[in-house]
Amino acid sequence: MTLTSIDLSTAPTTHEGILAFVREVAELTQPDAIHWCTGSDEEWTMLTEALEGTGTFTRLDPAKKPNSFYAASDPIDVARVEDRTYICSVDEKDCGPTNNWMDPEQMKGIMRGLYEGCMRGRTMFVIPFVMGHLEAERPMFGVELTDSAYVTVSMRVMARMGSAVLDKMTETDADFVQAIHSVGHPLAEGEADVAWPCNDTKYIVQFPEERAIWSFGSGYGGNALLGKKCYALRIASVMARDEGWLAEHMLILKLTSPQGVVKYVAAAFPSACGKTNLAMLKPTIPGWKVESIGDDIAWMRIGEDGRLWAVNPEYGFFGVAPGTNEHTNPHAMATINKGNSVFTNVALTEDGDVWWEGLENPPAKATSWKGEPWTPESEELSSHPNSRYCTPIKQCDILAPEFDDPRGVPIDAILFGGRRKTTVPLLFEARDWTHGTFLGATLSSETTAAAIGATGVVRRDPMAMLPFIGYNAGDYFGHWINIGKDNDESKLPKIFYVNWFRRDEDGGFLWPGFGENSRVLKWVVERLDGQAAAVETPIGHVPAPGSLDVEGLDMTDEALAAALHVDVEEWKAEIPQIQEWFDKFGDDLPAVLWTELDGLKARLGL
Ligand code: GTP
Ligand code: MN
Ligand code: MN
Repeated sequence: MTLTSIDLSTAPTTHEGILAFVREVAELTQPDAIHWCTGSDEEWTMLTEALEGTGTFTRLDPAKKPNSFYAASDPIDVARVEDRTYICSVDEKDCGPTNNWMDPEQMKGIMRGLYEGCMRGRTMFVIPFVMGHLEAERPMFGVELTDSAYVTVSMRVMARMGSAVLDKMTETDADFVQAIHSVGHPLAEGEADVAWPCNDTKYIVQFPEERAIWSFGSGYGGNALLGKKCYALRIASVMARDEGWLAEHMLILKLTSPQGVVKYVAAAFPSACGKTNLAMLKPTIPGWKVESIGDDIAWMRIGEDGRLWAVNPEYGFFGVAPGTNEHTNPHAMATINKGNSVFTNVALTEDGDVWWEGLENPPAKATSWKGEPWTPESEELSSHPNSRYCTPIKQCDILAPEFDDPRGVPIDAILFGGRRKTTVPLLFEARDWTHGTFLGATLSSETTAAAIGATGVVRRDPMAMLPFIGYNAGDYFGHWINIGKDNDESKLPKIFYVNWFRRDEDGGFLWPGFGENSRVLKWVVERLDGQAAAVETPIGHVPAPGSLDVEGLDMTDEALAAALHVDVEEWKAEIPQIQEWFDKFGDDLPAVLWTELDGLKARLGL
């Protein structure tokens, strides 16, 4: 069957832009049918049952995880593909040295070739969605067209989507981000589907000027749920540059002290470096309370009061499964145990539950993410290191009520952090906004399994946004500097830098982390109120001896001192790396960042 004349007369919208978009993509990709998503429970049931039918989903035991599903991807489709991700700005210079670029018309030519007929034998789902609140002053709409039911189900967890969104778009004739996604696996007449359709050829492409996203060949979250990384970070960062706000790879949490004082903290750590853990932290220090607002993305705008207000544009958690357990993240466990979740690339147990490395009570037998028999004695991992749970944020028992406030929350402190075995102390404070921007711009971390490629390699990951800045990173640093210049700095958040991952000589973590990170948060908010003492070092203000609350912590004084130590020789060794990193940007690097580097060198005695 060929879909030559597309009948949109029964489409549930009169929005001409949406209709034209759907028609154009359907004509190119030739799906068998078009389904307009409502976001209803009936639709969820229909889609999850269809996914069970194709073998993509295995339903978990409802007594353990109600309305939840296990999926295993093709082993070639397990993570974000940074080398296949492009920023196709009109001018190459706007892409900058940290992104892949191709001329937009050339890229469209290639991708039109790939998209031609690519949805044959499949249904095209039309997903109207909004990142952030539907009641926001300016709702941030998108429409994703996808030939994947898995993506459609996952989008329903991760974003506000469906009929209410479409109706509002229609009523207001709203602008929207056009997002096209195909797994790139058309089916010939009568051909059976595979459990995880995808394509060896993958492209994840952003067209920043057009605010458009074209994705091909992958079903993996970050490549396929286009509201998330592609829209809420890459495209939104360009909108934010143009309009004077910030779209960042940050968690948002609410911290209440024993005295009832509330502070809001945002934190940027690279993928698989602890945002989801910190966002749902269970404090070990008495009387302190953490509530979650977001675990991955923050959109931040200067409010009328001059403060920086943040919202989480998402509606679910797409969290790293391995390492998640009752100790490291009890609130995430409680959230997923309520059900309505999708687990991808973890292990399936014989009693219809899921398991992953780091979870309590290993099963005697399971099926690994590769579909092979697995036992605790197996040499291979049961779960891919980047296996994920996808679960509704509303199920989180410590979700702050402010999550539902379209204005968001005023941020008091920003933490930058990475995964470093050496050099970077547990905690220090920036001298001011510009120095904080320097710390963010030079943020370094060891690579993880969240992206394809070698792991454990130290690289610069500015503001934890290296794979997500939708334009020239030099201009992005300038944008951060300007936020400080154009606003009253005393009202902006104070900036801190943390490293949970420093090691001792035996390779063990110096700092116990997880719930104990509440001690770090306590020092941070005490600094805001001028209570906690700090000592000045070449890199910034480090907690003064005795100022970090370690009461009841099982840690020697030596280990604590080692965790907080600023080693001048180690920092001297960083300088050439920072120099080389800055050199990449040429004239696009704000001159004040060179001044910051000169200051650091001088303080190190270089
Ligand atoms: P994305 O969702 O990919 O953006 O990453 P994320 O920053 O949310 O990562 P997540 O919180 O899922 O981090 C998972 C990894 O960080 C696991 O390996 C955890 O064990 C580790 N981790 C998180 N917090 C801590 C900590 O305080 N100490 C130590 N040692 N490891 C931690
Ligand atoms: Mn992330
Ligand atoms: Mn996360």
